[in-house]
Amino acid sequence: MSILIKNGHVVTAAEDFVADVFIEGEKIVAIGKDLKYSADKIIDATGKYVFPGGIDPHVHLDMPFMGTSSSDNYETGTGAALHGGTTMVIDFILQTQGDTLHNALKAWQKRSEDAISDYSYHMAVTDFNENVAKEVVEMIEKEGITSFKTFMAYKGALMIDDGQMVNLMKVVKENGGLVTVHATNGDMIDALIAKHRKEGKLSPLYHYLSQPEVTEAEASARFSDMLFYTGCTGYIVHMTCEGALNAVRRATLRNQKVYVETCSQYLMIDASLYDKGFESAKWVMSPPLREKKDQVALWNGINQGLVQTVGTDHCPFMWEQKKMGENDFSKIPNGHPAIEHRMEFLFSEGVLKNKISLSKYVEITSTNSAKIFGMYPEKGTLAIGTDADIVIFDPNKKHTISAKTHHMRVDYSAYEGWEVTGKCETVILRGKVAVENEKLLLTKGNGKFIRRKKITPTI
Ligand code: URP
Ligand code: ZN
Ligand code: ZN
Repeated sequence: MSILIKNGHVVTAAEDFVADVFIEGEKIVAIGKDLKYSADKIIDATGKYVFPGGIDPHVHLDMPFMGTSSSDNYETGTGAALHGGTTMVIDFILQTQGDTLHNALKAWQKRSEDAISDYSYHMAVTDFNENVAKEVVEMIEKEGITSFKTFMAYKGALMIDDGQMVNLMKVVKENGGLVTVHATNGDMIDALIAKHRKEGKLSPLYHYLSQPEVTEAEASARFSDMLFYTGCTGYIVHMTCEGALNAVRRATLRNQKVYVETCSQYLMIDASLYDKGFESAKWVMSPPLREKKDQVALWNGINQGLVQTVGTDHCPFMWEQKKMGENDFSKIPNGHPAIEHRMEFLFSEGVLKNKISLSKYVEITSTNSAKIFGMYPEKGTLAIGTDADIVIFDPNKKHTISAKTHHMRVDYSAYEGWEVTGKCETVILRGKVAVENEKLLLTKGNGKFIRRKKITPTI
């Protein structure tokens, strides 16, 4: 199968020009003006952007969590991702405390057989000991899983202590991996949750009030200090606030680089949504939404190079599942649906509102994840020889977000009625048309597991 994309406005993290792109099999074979190839399919991209396929570095598909499981499985979640121009996701494997990493890997391999888009895993280490240390090495050397997720919160289920964290960092550093973190102070948060429950303060608002900014700022600084001490490369997931960003900014004063991810929701919506009674459960996620000043700090952090990636932390639950916490905010499953909207939201809210440039858009939605997580240049850019993961994007097409039209397996939208300008028109995954005319053309099992290279910090 060959495809010739004609006359599109090609945008990478480095360049920006009008050209044709010729694809043969899974790869890009040529990029240039007026290419003279005959092709099985020709797409006229005049007036459209041609972007590298999006990479969402933070999703939770079919994840057992808080007594239930996230409602998108690999088939529905990666299908929705493709509709929104994301051609690859990195999901989280959760080690069960007391069990092995290999057992957890097997469980996720089974789940991901149905993937439609490409995917990889971060391995969450929730119980570190000498045997797990050996498994970490095997994950890097044999499985191509090079990033290890840690939680500084969710005590009793996922959290590790600082001793385990430092020992994990040492092994990961020696073997060419990277440690990622949910950086919030779990003990402080648990104390605040207990206080609010004791006082009978049980609405979703108290989820937000149990996780003040300082809990994230403190943990982000502590994590950065532990990275500094061990020399390990680290990445803070779903950063929400100015205080946490300033911890990373301070680390740069000792010439340290800590990678930072934020998520589209923290750039777009804020904590005023927690005053809607139980409806606010739609936005119960951890960390919670913050203030307008935090959005300003995060957009600036992107342009200052302090924030490298924007994911979604897609972790959807049906409304019936959210209602598990109808009488107690601490029982509301944490997470919200966004996997489908990230690329269009960031274009509409970021590029069109002059908050980021086109090349920055490509960096934060695709290229930087590929570079940080060891997939570049096969993923994350448009160049001769790279995987033909491509989004043909109509910058003028307006549409409105709704649960009635989205493709995620969740019965509400956290963005109902939101007006977006810009639409992913055609999405190509490794040379196959995945989405065209708003229809998903690939089926389950099409997605490929992407083995990742050892981490060599290049940005
Ligand atoms: O609320 C969230 N973020 N749910 C998913 C788990 C996590 O902490 O990322
Ligand atoms: Zn988290
Ligand atoms: Zn998450």
